[in-house]
Amino acid sequence: MVTEKSAGVSRRNFLHAVGAGSSAGVLFATMGAMGLAPAAAAQPTSGDWTPPSGSDFSLTGRGRKTVVIVGAGPAGLASAYELQKAGYDVTVLEARHRPGGRTLTVRGGDSETDSDGVTQTARFDDGIYMNCGAGRIAQWMVTMDYLRELGVPYEVFTNANADAYLYNEKAGSRPGAPTRYRTAKADWFGYTSELLSYATDQGALDQKLTTADKDHLRDFLRSWGALQADGTYTGGNNRGFSEYPSAWNEHGTPLTGPASMSEVFGSRMGMYFPFEVNWEQSMLMFQPTGGMDAICDHFVRAIGKNNVRYNSPVTGVENTSSGVAVTYQRAHGPAKRIEADYAIVSAPAQLMRRWDTNWSPEIDAALGEFSIGSPAGKIGLQYRSRFWEDDHRIFGGITETDMDLAHIWYPSYGYGEKKGLVVGYYNTGGNARSYGAMSPAQRQARAVSQGVKIHGEKYATELESSFSISWDKVPYVEGAWAFPDTSSSGFTQLQAGEGRVFFAGDWMSEISAWQHGAFWSARYAVQALHAQVMAS
Ligand code: FAD
Ligand code: ALA
Repeated sequence: MVTEKSAGVSRRNFLHAVGAGSSAGVLFATMGAMGLAPAAAAQPTSGDWTPPSGSDFSLTGRGRKTVVIVGAGPAGLASAYELQKAGYDVTVLEARHRPGGRTLTVRGGDSETDSDGVTQTARFDDGIYMNCGAGRIAQWMVTMDYLRELGVPYEVFTNANADAYLYNEKAGSRPGAPTRYRTAKADWFGYTSELLSYATDQGALDQKLTTADKDHLRDFLRSWGALQADGTYTGGNNRGFSEYPSAWNEHGTPLTGPASMSEVFGSRMGMYFPFEVNWEQSMLMFQPTGGMDAICDHFVRAIGKNNVRYNSPVTGVENTSSGVAVTYQRAHGPAKRIEADYAIVSAPAQLMRRWDTNWSPEIDAALGEFSIGSPAGKIGLQYRSRFWEDDHRIFGGITETDMDLAHIWYPSYGYGEKKGLVVGYYNTGGNARSYGAMSPAQRQARAVSQGVKIHGEKYATELESSFSISWDKVPYVEGAWAFPDTSSSGFTQLQAGEGRVFFAGDWMSEISAWQHGAFWSARYAVQALHAQVMAS
């Protein structure tokens, strides 16, 4: 930024020398010839990111513009950050008592009150935290760039672990048997390899494969499926051991099995494997050290605490003849109205429809398509011992289940500490709604009674405290995410903004339910806003 500024200043000095005594038009023409005058910019295209620059103002003689940003979640804060870097004067209005939106990290002493009036206060020890919303980041995501630009420390988030469990109680001939990922994989890969090898030998693939292709495929299957010389799968070390090999001549005790091909396929555990190769979820993944909220905290620090107003729910946004007027409430005193040149609004779409606005009916209808009403829930269970590491040898990762709790996350931090926090459920849809309808104590009881089936009694007896979240009950959020149709005309309309108001939020991107999407929506809104400024 410093470099940009000094380059801009020296170029401006040069231009003033050239333009001394000239009209603004001559100055502009000279700048244009030098490629320095910002063009009357077109709408940005997706994936394009040319951050607005401070010199865009200084070089064109325009004054600093003021922008009100509604929402201090990732989209709102990234908008404010990028605009401020370019010299805009920003004010962020946030309805809640803290920044972050759905990147909520809860620590000991934190309180949250649901929309139904139920308050929970976390009783977690120092150093223990729960990421109630966002928890993981893929390497390719722009979120990683912001971590590095803002100086947020980060570490690996273990999204897949060969020693975590798969647990299906509704499928298979032996339902309710926790199976390690490595064992399930060995059996599924083994039997599918056996079948494919058989089909190859029988000539079933002759229309598709040359003789050389078939040899290469057989080589792969033999290794991938740990097949015997005759092409059959009979188990092997990849399944894991009940006693692992140790001292010389101690060969370990292999697990019993494998079950028959039919039993293995009947377990339906293979359905969990695609997650590991999913483009959004495959390892390595990362998390900010100490909690996901570090990203938004760093944004606030960079923007300046004084420029972010909490407990300031916006109730109205209007285009006026000269800019925008934004009305918000305050904890004490009458509602306040501030005027600015522009606004970026990044609250959940369905909530903005409740505001007093003079948007067109088309914008209102488009926002209706983009509601983030789907539920999701999590519970954080603090344990006095890390029995999943001590007894089960699971150091991070996720256990998948077909129970209503869906996923159990082991912590990817705090190794070597005495205590730890397990996310005892992370569910969505109907399951999240059912848990959300329970009291916090009932949620805990249900999650624990199910987790015991996998981990044994310690899952109940070692528990110290819990905190749970039901995202559709979080005020000013009221849902987890939306997956809107981005090819709809409503999306195009929202991308263009209305007058001097621009829209941002993960729901305004091709990758909803990720901060990456929120950040890109912010970049898009910032570019569209800046284009309008430069064209005016
Ligand atoms: P939000 O985070 O929702 O922020 C909107 C802000 O607007 C909020 O702070 C809200 O209080 C404020 N607001 C609302 N109304 C008003 C008003 N009237 N006046 C002023 N302010 C208002 N992302 C990842 O990258 N990785 C993950 O692993 C991941 N997991 C997730 C798991 C769950 C359970 C959930 C719910 C989300 C997860 N996400 C994840 C998604 C991520 O949290 C969101 O993509 C991101 O928070 C969206 O940012 P946003 O700014 O668009 O919206
Ligand atoms: N992006 C969210 C997650 O990874 C849905 O859990």
